[in-house]
Amino acid sequence: MTVTVLNHSLIKHKLTNIRRKETKTKDFYQCVSEIAGLMAYEISRDFPLKDVEIETPICKTVQKELAQEIVIVPILRAGLGMVDGIRDMIPTAKVGFIGLYRDEETHLPVEYYAKFPPSMKDAIVLLVDPMLATGGSAVAAVDMLKKRGAKDIRYVGLVAAPEGVKAMQDAHPEVPVYVAALDEKLNENCYIIPGLGDCGDRLFGTK
Ligand code: PRP
Ligand code: URA
Repeated sequence: MTVTVLNHSLIKHKLTNIRRKETKTKDFYQCVSEIAGLMAYEISRDFPLKDVEIETPICKTVQKELAQEIVIVPILRAGLGMVDGIRDMIPTAKVGFIGLYRDEETHLPVEYYAKFPPSMKDAIVLLVDPMLATGGSAVAAVDMLKKRGAKDIRYVGLVAAPEGVKAMQDAHPEVPVYVAALDEKLNENCYIIPGLGDCGDRLFGTK
């Protein structure tokens, strides 16, 4: 499995903003969205293209467009914070949803919702969730996507712990992982250190 840490200066700068504990909901959401857009720009540079004949105001010409459908699948809730930024870059992308939450005691993922567009099999599926902590949620989400026929799945997150990266590597070695930062470790409550706290709560002002 490949793990790519996107070391873009703007991504690092914005990531520092969302790590600050004093950053409030509006700025937090905006930065998450902007980082997701920058990440989408970076990871889409090699997306396959196909020829298409179009007509400019001057003449007919053969040009390029994306060859495959792109499907963004956020893991609710926190993954929702990354959707707008990616759609700004790829407005033709379809959006599916996976509802998972971590049980507070066991830290294991609990599934509560799934809805996908019909075209999963031939699409590039961007599974998005800012936090890869134990990796339980991401592993379960990839299981769900594979059951729906998805073949080209790419995980896009903001902050990962080594434990989460290893869990993905063990369960789904063919899924590339793109993150903005690889942090140190998990604490006793399975939160990422230094991390940024509870991403869902910070995005939606629920604590
Ligand atoms: C967070 C986060 C991931 C998960 C990561 O979601 O957005 O989905 O935890 O942890 P893991 O790698 O240990 O599974 P949470 O369960 O807090 O739900 P929420 O987004 O609804 O707040
Ligand atoms: N979920 C979060 O929102 N933050 C963490 O650090 C771990 C899981």
